[in-house]
Amino acid sequence: MASLNYRHSYHAGNIADVFKHYVLTLVLEALQRKDTPFCVVDSHAGAGLYELERGGEHEQGIGQLWPERSAWPMLASYLELVGRFNPGGRLRFYPGSPMVIREFLRPGDRAVLMELHPQEYGSLRECMYHAPGVAVHHINAWNGIRAFVPPKENRGLLLIDPPYEQPDEFADVIAALRYGMRHWRNGLYVAWYPIKLRRRIESFHRAVAGLKASAHAVEFITLPLDMDRRLNGSGLILINPPWQLLDVLRVNLPPLAQRLAGAGGAPQVRFIALSGPDVRASRPRGVRF
Ligand SMILES: C[S@@+](CC[C@H](N)C(=O)[O-])C[C@H]1O[C@@H](n2cnc3c(N)ncnc32)[C@H](O)[C@@H]1O
Repeated sequence: MASLNYRHSYHAGNIADVFKHYVLTLVLEALQRKDTPFCVVDSHAGAGLYELERGGEHEQGIGQLWPERSAWPMLASYLELVGRFNPGGRLRFYPGSPMVIREFLRPGDRAVLMELHPQEYGSLRECMYHAPGVAVHHINAWNGIRAFVPPKENRGLLLIDPPYEQPDEFADVIAALRYGMRHWRNGLYVAWYPIKLRRRIESFHRAVAGLKASAHAVEFITLPLDMDRRLNGSGLILINPPWQLLDVLRVNLPPLAQRLAGAGGAPQVRFIALSGPDVRASRPRGVRF
């Protein structure tokens, strides 16, 4: 059963969004390095653009970075993109993944956006009204992925970002990635997941490793992994990551985690080769502070 309780607006711009959207901008920049058209399929698109409200989770995320944005040159293209939605310089709006993707489309590129929640879908349609190359679908993503992957361009990204409100959503992600590996082996894949307790994640990683793709997990943790009920960190499964992406993340993510964790946090960035050529160094590698 798909979840319809989750609304992303309270979470928009939080630490997990900063991490996810920063990595997304780097993947999109990499896709732009070749002239041939690409397609981005965003399976759980959300509302598109969020108005930030006092007390929201963005205060620990983009809200901390925004006043000191000139001190983060390595995040320049992500922060510049957020700035396009806040022309006066005051942080009022936060772009979700569809807006991030839209900003990177060139003539001839495409985006396929799926969203199941009726209100989120309505907002998304408004955000994307007349956006060239963008198709918005009110559809259950787990069916939609099978309809829209592989895209005809045979070049691009599948972003999978479910709310994980249902216990079977880890299994749904694995099924979607398995489908992808069968039908679009050379696609790029980014799948987000929450980290609460570490042991929950291990079987997920084993299942991704079983796909026998070039798969990595990058984990961005800012709180001690000792509570099951809160989001202590989040991870991204990256399949076929663009050249040098992991090297860039190895340099840029640790200081970002340290800054966002703040005093009393427990910043940790982990890079785990799950399967593929890099797996001989397969012991989880972490950067602790
Ligand atoms: C974490 S939010 C997406 C955030 C968005 N990707 C971003 O980065 O800005 C997850 C979204 O998935 C939607 N959703 C939940 N189950 C779904 C399903 N089975 N198919 C499509 N959308 C779904 C929710 O309504 C919610 O808007």
